[in-house]
Amino acid sequence: MNGLEDLRARLAALDQRQLRRTRRIVEGAWTPAARLADLDMPRGAGREVLAFCSNDYLGLASHPAVVEALAAGARRCGAGSGASPLISGHNAAHHDLEARFAATQSAHIPAARALHFGTGYLANLAVISALADRETEVFSEELNHASLIDGIRLAYARRRVYPHADADALDAMLRASTARRRVIVTDAVFSMDGDLAPLSGLLALAERHDAWLVIDDAHGFGVLGPGGRGSLAHFGLHSDRIVYMATLGKAMGVGGALVCAHDDVIEWLIQRARPYIYSTAAPPALAAAVAAAFDIALGAEGEALRAALRAHVARLRAAFGAATAGYTVGAAAPPGGGWRLLSSPTPIQPIVVGGNEAALALAAALLDRGIWVPAIRPPTVPEGTARLRVTLSAAHTAEQVERLATVLQDLAARPG
Ligand SMILES: Cc1ncc(COP(=O)(O)O)c(C=O)c1O
Repeated sequence: MNGLEDLRARLAALDQRQLRRTRRIVEGAWTPAARLADLDMPRGAGREVLAFCSNDYLGLASHPAVVEALAAGARRCGAGSGASPLISGHNAAHHDLEARFAATQSAHIPAARALHFGTGYLANLAVISALADRETEVFSEELNHASLIDGIRLAYARRRVYPHADADALDAMLRASTARRRVIVTDAVFSMDGDLAPLSGLLALAERHDAWLVIDDAHGFGVLGPGGRGSLAHFGLHSDRIVYMATLGKAMGVGGALVCAHDDVIEWLIQRARPYIYSTAAPPALAAAVAAAFDIALGAEGEALRAALRAHVARLRAAFGAATAGYTVGAAAPPGGGWRLLSSPTPIQPIVVGGNEAALALAAALLDRGIWVPAIRPPTVPEGTARLRVTLSAAHTAEQVERLATVLQDLAARPG
């Protein structure tokens, strides 16, 4: 078998297990009323669907002030940065955004300083590979995002996986550790489950066992905590052991990421983090657009958007609670199959259906009715827990959320 034949056989094996992923084409700007095209359609022929699948939690991806800041930033700073940050790509727009982000976390991290990255994936690779090495044990939460796992691989560190949200199990593992350095790594909000990590307990363990605590707040910054300042503010944490990462392509609606930590940690990243050093700095206009997103998300308008978002979460969960026997709210698996709405307080509201085929069928039935919710399958989630990942946005209307609930109730009443 040559290389191509080998790949074709492996693709066929994915098909057999309903694991082949496909992209859909969105035409135009991202809003909950998305224009969705098939791969072979002429441009402009897409149909409007009601989407519950983005991480644009505050609706800033199409906010006129953010869009205008991006355009103005490009006029001022050009289209690209021209080089990696340590050569000549570090623009005033990046620098000012870093300072502003550090100020949002200064109540939680002493001598806070920040560093801007092109994506959250890169930021996670950078942080972990700079803090950890072959002599380091990295304690990684079971449901961590792939970028954190890949960061551990890039560091050549020893990975120890602890069970989901289980601080006692982590404590036991840390006690047994004889490694020269220890790093605890966790999502703050689990991206496929929507629940929160027990960060206060994890920080206590980091203090007790002399470990770093790396917190990925991709889905918390802009959504949680007073003023939308994220998970450290939500839990009221304070420590120089915390390395905090927030992404900018989710609630901020733009793209990129910021890492905040003690000044010395950031200085070490600048010296040693290969994904930071050896990659072209993001276009400065993106940082300018994020600054406009900060104005909205961290100000009075953000409060109103978060209130609308919380109301949507309550609306959807109440509709599930009042629904048919096909639904179960909470952690226990429904007897005899059916769907399970996970216990999540965030805009990520996953409906676990179990098998890959069942998840794909439910997503297809929703799309037939004009509603777009993606089916999430292994390896993104554990085997047997394929799900529909419903995400809510302040840009949805109450009527749109109610429509989703009604269509789901209708489908639950007529399974299959
Ligand atoms: C928890 C988590 N961390 C990191 C990332 C990566 O961020 P980015 O999309 O900016 O690369 C994502 C999302 O993709 C995520 O959900």
